[in-house]
Amino acid sequence: MKIEISRKRIKDIKADGEIVFVLKNKLDHKWVTDKNDLAFLQFKAEADQALLFAHSRKVYVGLESFRPDDLRSACAQALKFFRSANCSSLKIGMYVEENAQASAQAMAEGFHLGDYEFLKYKSKPKKTNQPNKIIFALEEYADKKVDEKKASAGVRQGGIIASAVNYTREIINHTPDDVTPEKFAGLAKKLAKDIRIGISVYDEKYLLKHNMNAFYAVSRGSIHEPRLIHLAYKPKNARTRVVLVGKGITYDSGGLSLKPSDSMITMKSDKSGAAAVLGILQAAAGLKLPVEIHGIVGATENMIGHNAYKPDDVLRAKNGKTIEVRNTDAEGRLVLADCLAFAQDFQPDYLLDLATLTGACMVALGEYTIGVMGYNSELKNKILAASAESGELAAELPFNKYLAKLIKSQVADIKNVTGSKYGGAITAGLFLGEFIDRKNRDKWVHLDIAGPSYQEKEWDCNPYGASGAGVRLVVKFLQSIK
Ligand code: BES
Ligand code: ZN
Ligand code: ZN
Repeated sequence: MKIEISRKRIKDIKADGEIVFVLKNKLDHKWVTDKNDLAFLQFKAEADQALLFAHSRKVYVGLESFRPDDLRSACAQALKFFRSANCSSLKIGMYVEENAQASAQAMAEGFHLGDYEFLKYKSKPKKTNQPNKIIFALEEYADKKVDEKKASAGVRQGGIIASAVNYTREIINHTPDDVTPEKFAGLAKKLAKDIRIGISVYDEKYLLKHNMNAFYAVSRGSIHEPRLIHLAYKPKNARTRVVLVGKGITYDSGGLSLKPSDSMITMKSDKSGAAAVLGILQAAAGLKLPVEIHGIVGATENMIGHNAYKPDDVLRAKNGKTIEVRNTDAEGRLVLADCLAFAQDFQPDYLLDLATLTGACMVALGEYTIGVMGYNSELKNKILAASAESGELAAELPFNKYLAKLIKSQVADIKNVTGSKYGGAITAGLFLGEFIDRKNRDKWVHLDIAGPSYQEKEWDCNPYGASGAGVRLVVKFLQSIK
């Protein structure tokens, strides 16, 4: 989809359809030309309420405010109304609360994110979203003057970020057979080539040689070899080094602690953290962020098989700690344990991991919110600020010393599950914390994206399936780094 900016008045722009946002019941506005019909239909302009009029070719969408977050959702929502219409171009005015660039960016993101569809496995792929061009008029709702440069910078940034999110979604939506660990590494290599950044890919032998036994153990049940992937974006002007670590379980069957059938469905999405890391690097390179960014991905399947790792196994991780395996379905923390140890060799200023780590995080926060954990409140607050600005929901799940005791093991240093029904997202975070060196404790934040990463329904700007959770939030965080 193309987004263009036009200096013409809206009414003079040629397009097949038009989108009009109606602020809280304010039907008295020059763009609302179907006021009587809207009143007749008792249109209250509530958020998410929308109506399409075929005769005027306009869709009216209710809006709570002109905050970027509301604009983003409303643009995605509006697009849905033109799905089956014979309409290839749309026009829309500008809605600016404070900052024209932020508004234009949010609108562009909303359109690009709302336009995404995954059709690869349809025998007759047919795009349902028809419009392929959207024209932003510089004319503003309250007649504010809109700086063209700012608007086009917003459209450009929104385009880069949304295409990184869509790229992430695309990887996640592919089947486990189409994205095995080896094929994931192939995707990472292609990305590295396309955006001209460094990449190293390591195999099973490397894991064994470097004592990454926890990661290796998880991979043993699969016929597909694991891959440890390291991408490096190193702009010349960088003063800060960020290391991102992504959980890349290309399929999580649960292993010998096999998942029940219903819980196994959607587990192709257990690679969401890893896919987000690739998406974030793509966006960072596109935006030319002045930050050095390393992306570390632990890619493997978690399967059953004659050589699968077992409950009762004791594994020695890269940092020397021993882990009693009590449940092979708590595999993500084992892969991340070694990947986090590996990541710290690069001496990060900030260390972030993204993982579909626990169902418990969804129980705690609901399925739309990212769980934020770590030892440093200031850093967690920066993440929460990035959440608010990016429009991705996130909330802190606080560590405490009582929960920390639950991962102590009688036979090894720690165990991979607690045996308690409660606090599972936090105890998983605390488990990861065991693999963060003391000197790096305040640099690390864990993002549990199990909830929002994949939904079997549309929500906000997200289609059925993968959402690309974490990309927008982390890119915002990276943009805030000086
Ligand atoms: N990949 C799952 C977590 C998950 C669940 C992600 C639902 C997305 C949606 C993870 O590996 C897992 O299986 N976690 C277990 C942990 C348990 C065994 C302590 C869980 O959440 O049930
Ligand atoms: Zn699992
Ligand atoms: Zn998993």
